[in-house]
Amino acid sequence: MGRLLFIKSIEGRVMAGITMFVGMMILVGWVAINEEARMQAFVRQHTGRSIERGAELFASLCSECHGEEGYGAKDRAPGLNNPHLFGFDPVGLQTAAITNANRALVRLNKDIESLLTELTDAENPPSEERQNEILAEIESLEAEIEEQQLIIEAAVAERIEILGTLNTAVENGLFPLWDTIVDSDRTAINEVEVFFNNNGTRLAQVGWAGDLQGYVVTTLIHGRPGSGNVWLSSEGMAPWSQLAGAQLRQDQIEDLAAYILNWDKGANWTREDFGAVAQYGKPLADGSLPTGPQPEKTGTDVSGILSRWQADEIVGSPESGVLLYEAKFGCKDCHQNGASAPDTVGTFARIQNERLAEARFAGYTVEQYIVESIVLPGDYVVDGYSSGLMPDNFGTRMIDQQLADIVAYLMTQ
Ligand code: HEC
Ligand code: HEC
Repeated sequence: MGRLLFIKSIEGRVMAGITMFVGMMILVGWVAINEEARMQAFVRQHTGRSIERGAELFASLCSECHGEEGYGAKDRAPGLNNPHLFGFDPVGLQTAAITNANRALVRLNKDIESLLTELTDAENPPSEERQNEILAEIESLEAEIEEQQLIIEAAVAERIEILGTLNTAVENGLFPLWDTIVDSDRTAINEVEVFFNNNGTRLAQVGWAGDLQGYVVTTLIHGRPGSGNVWLSSEGMAPWSQLAGAQLRQDQIEDLAAYILNWDKGANWTREDFGAVAQYGKPLADGSLPTGPQPEKTGTDVSGILSRWQADEIVGSPESGVLLYEAKFGCKDCHQNGASAPDTVGTFARIQNERLAEARFAGYTVEQYIVESIVLPGDYVVDGYSSGLMPDNFGTRMIDQQLADIVAYLMTQ
């Protein structure tokens, strides 16, 4: 009897052991399978709590100026629950289409010009066959020009229509300075392109190179010194961080940023959202924006630069380019009228017809040649000039966009 009981209890224990082992394996498997999901749930919960804490802080500290729902208040503080702040450009597609078409137009016109030069070359007249070929090429280029012009016309009309639906927002300060452009008789469409490229989003408008999270956190830490002078119904944006002697810890600042960023609707912002903002951001008071993370300089790797232009869809603006060329980087000082360097005027034709005809530049595009001349001026020195005249540090002073702007300008010369 006793023996039987003993065996039974051993059996029982073995069974219990097996059951437990199997159970544990199932549990381990289940945990492994669900680890990813659990992590995500945990992150969601964590973010959720951070947003909740941010919401409480916002209600007690920020809403008196920025509004309970973050729409801002007239002349008091800008809206934060705001498509423009989140980088949603209501006319961005149209502006990009126009900028691209303008760029194509510059190229097409240049191509026609050089074909015409060839056609009318008295010293070296083309054969009749070549003449016909040239005329046919010009005709097809002209058809392409017309196509681009239609694209521009359509995009301009669309943009006007969209802006028409945003009247309330424009009255509430979306696109400040827009009036000054419309009212002046600067009919040149390019001015308008530059305007929208620089004002389509809040971060472009203030020239912040980092992301929105960094912008919000930095604003909270440092405040905006002097912004009280711009905002007539409030004292402006004060610093909030303990780092600046104010009340908020870094984790509270992160919570506030999480709450604000939670308003993002991505691509789904609507006309109504634009209308709901009571006040848009204003141009900043001088020196009020602490420098954010600086964008990478363009460097001297020519093919790397050209492929970044492709990958990041960087399109040069000749209008910005001329300012950079003349004022900021002082290229004009040497290059104007051929003062002490090849003349600015005629750059494109000279490079296409003379430089690229040299064997060493076989396969080069004009763009590529110009980029190389700017970032690696010592690699090839134009006949009649001595090496080392042109500064060789532009690659460390320019960012990709600035170089693209300058090149776009030189392509028009
Ligand atoms: C006394 C009014 C006031 C209070 C309170 C206030 N702000 Fe501001 N805030 C402003 C003003 C004014 C600006 C615009 C500053 C400028 O134009 O440079 C601003 C700017 C900002 C910006 C940048 C917006 C942009 O488009 O550039 C953020 C983000 C911001 N505030 C967040 C907060 C948060 C979060 C709080 C609460 C901790 C807060 N603010 C409390 C007045 C205030
Ligand atoms: C101090 C005078 C000086 C300055 C400033 C200068 N350059 Fe030059 N640049 C030269 C000289 C000299 C050459 C010709 C010798 C050579 O190839 O290095 C040249 C050549 C060039 C070429 C090739 C022209 C050709 O016909 O092949 C380009 C393009 C160019 N520079 C663009 C620029 C740009 C853009 C800037 C400003 C960011 C600039 N340069 C600033 C002196 C200057």
